[in-house]
Amino acid sequence: MNSDTPDAGLAPGFRLLAQSASTAAGHTDALFLAMVLLCGAMALVLAGLVLFFAIRYRAGSPADRSNPPSNARGLEAAWTLLPLLLFFGVFLWSAWDYVQQRSAPSDALPVYVTGKQWMWKLQHRNGRREINELHVPLGQPVKLLMTSEDVIHSFYVPAFRLKQDVLPGRYASVWFTATQLGDFRLFCAEYCGSEHSAMIGRVVVMEPAAYARWLGEGPAEPGLVQRGAALFRERGCSGCHAAGSTVHAPLLDGIGGRTVHLQDGRTMVADETYLRDALLLPQKDIAAGYAPTMPSYAGQLSEDDIQALIAYLQP
Ligand code: CUA
Repeated sequence: MNSDTPDAGLAPGFRLLAQSASTAAGHTDALFLAMVLLCGAMALVLAGLVLFFAIRYRAGSPADRSNPPSNARGLEAAWTLLPLLLFFGVFLWSAWDYVQQRSAPSDALPVYVTGKQWMWKLQHRNGRREINELHVPLGQPVKLLMTSEDVIHSFYVPAFRLKQDVLPGRYASVWFTATQLGDFRLFCAEYCGSEHSAMIGRVVVMEPAAYARWLGEGPAEPGLVQRGAALFRERGCSGCHAAGSTVHAPLLDGIGGRTVHLQDGRTMVADETYLRDALLLPQKDIAAGYAPTMPSYAGQLSEDDIQALIAYLQP
């Protein structure tokens, strides 16, 4: 580690929460604090009332027990509605935060993540690969597109308040913007076999200029888009799906993100999961106006190949 990236996230010492190093972390912490305070206040009120009544109406106490109230509608409405509103507010607040954390800004840097027993494999759009390390620029949104080669893993960066299960056979997507330079721990947070606890790594947040240098340094590998383009030809996709083909098949130029009309009347957005299913389970969502003649590529493409093809199909 070089000297201008302090060992922020890995510093020893006791903390109640990991330090917050992403734009989402402050929101999550505020919500968490509000819930602790709200639930704590509720618990205090209830415990206080229990104690108060237990003492006041203990056996043999001189408290007045005559003429108990038979109608306390106002009180009942208050203790029903007030907590309802409070906790519904918490629901709205967290739902809002959740939606924010799921919708990546359109300029987010894409990084492809594959979990496998027992490592994190990461790939940047220009083809640079990493294992158990993720380099990102400070202050710029980064979108992770994640899948697994085998079992369920969970990508967990406490300092970013970021945790997302990673499932085989589909893509999960999260994004974050780092707000502090330094190294931050990355864990697998889902038991995934005997070496689950060793499936750890780090996220390195760098100055944008240093990041750009770093990104350009790696071994010269073709970028994801180039690899995807090559696969598109080699695997025969272009035979049907390129302009000028005699086969009646959908043109795939820049399909990623477009709305697709399906045979059965549904419409879908051609996101990563849709494109992945189109490759591996082509009979699942047939595009309207086309015959279901596409063969499945299940077992013939690695996760890396699929990622490259998907990157190629983005506009
Ligand atoms: Cu991967 Cu636990």
